[in-house]
Amino acid sequence: MTYSNALALLREHGQEQLLQYYDELSKELKSALLDQIAGINFSSVKLPSSPAGRNLGQLSTVPALSCVEVERQRDKFASLGLAALRAGKVAAVLLAGGQGTRLGSDAPKGTFNMGLTRDLSIFACQFANIKEVTDKSGEYFHIFVMTSELNDGPTREFFRQKNFFGYPEDKIHFFVQDMAPCCDLNGKILLAGKGKVAMSPNGNGGWYISLIKSGFGDLLSREGIEWINVYAVDNVLQRICDPVFIGAALSSGCNCAAKVVKKVSPDEKVGVLCMENGSPAIVEYYEMPPALASLRRPDGELKFMYGVILNYLFRVDMLNKTISKPLPVHLSLKKIPYIKDGALITPEQPNGYKFEHLVLDMIKFMGSCLAVEVEREREFAPVKNRTGVDSVESARALLKKNGVIL
Ligand code: UTP
Repeated sequence: MTYSNALALLREHGQEQLLQYYDELSKELKSALLDQIAGINFSSVKLPSSPAGRNLGQLSTVPALSCVEVERQRDKFASLGLAALRAGKVAAVLLAGGQGTRLGSDAPKGTFNMGLTRDLSIFACQFANIKEVTDKSGEYFHIFVMTSELNDGPTREFFRQKNFFGYPEDKIHFFVQDMAPCCDLNGKILLAGKGKVAMSPNGNGGWYISLIKSGFGDLLSREGIEWINVYAVDNVLQRICDPVFIGAALSSGCNCAAKVVKKVSPDEKVGVLCMENGSPAIVEYYEMPPALASLRRPDGELKFMYGVILNYLFRVDMLNKTISKPLPVHLSLKKIPYIKDGALITPEQPNGYKFEHLVLDMIKFMGSCLAVEVEREREFAPVKNRTGVDSVESARALLKKNGVIL
């Protein structure tokens, strides 16, 4: 792209500030900046004209298996799940491309040390749980690790240093997700350097597209992988390729399944799995009107009680059918380092937005989804913050409760 083409494009979208330091740049930086500008999808970097969220459709409850029901059918589900694992029909995708800004560390989140007397990274906690499954099934499943441009190198290096956590290296595959520009509170795209657009990972919703773009579609079909278990890096109690979960999904006939926990209160900040206009959907806590969130059933339980914990099973054929369906863009208010008057500013307060696609929006394309309730204290210890709610502190306490030596 030439300078004048870039300028015309930026003018069209009100983003000319991206060229304000152009004359100061070396030839290489000029050309790199023009390439970056050419790659921007301006239609997905727009602030909404009104601050109101989406209009909710008609909500109803989703098919669900409570903990009691799962317990009743545990043996049947476990043997179905183990058979699928032994047949190589299930793989896992670890979502590890996030920046973990709330944790306040530049290192990949999975490398964070949960140990107090020993080295115990989040990755290691998750691989310890994976080992329980592979010990039972006698088979290793493929694990695809999604990273971003910002943490790919250090993530791979950590896996190498830790000898792939004892897992066969040829079953672990890395792929890199896409990035999206960040803007200020007025929708102006920020510069991270005089010749560099501020970019951040574009959310966890692009994982399947990125997996396929990275060339792993062949491996999926060659190996006969029918289901993918997608999970977040930041839950230290995460149970991956859990045979009971797989068996429950298989016997339900649903196209996807989600591990859920019972909400502790109507206003707990978790997305709720439900049906919206007849399709499965996850309604974010801030989208759910308080009157609906606090509706109760005759037995006193919340009507919309199941919160998601970012652990899903998707049928691969459904993913392939829906891969080209556009996902909505979510805005996330963040602290974004930027250039002002030629100097790099590291803001103390959120100063702009990242644009993200979210995995939870893929659920509605699946047609059907089963909620499988799990025990919160055994499976859900999110690490979002250093202290307080969903923090290193709270996750350490839950690890201890589960008998993990820290
Ligand atoms: P979060 O939504 O908590 O985001 O990620 P984050 O970037 O890790 O943390 P903050 O908000 O900056 O503090 C939930 C899961 O989705 C992954 C994360 O790695 C985590 O497993 N994720 C998030 C991605 O893989 N890519 C992204 O672009 C964003």
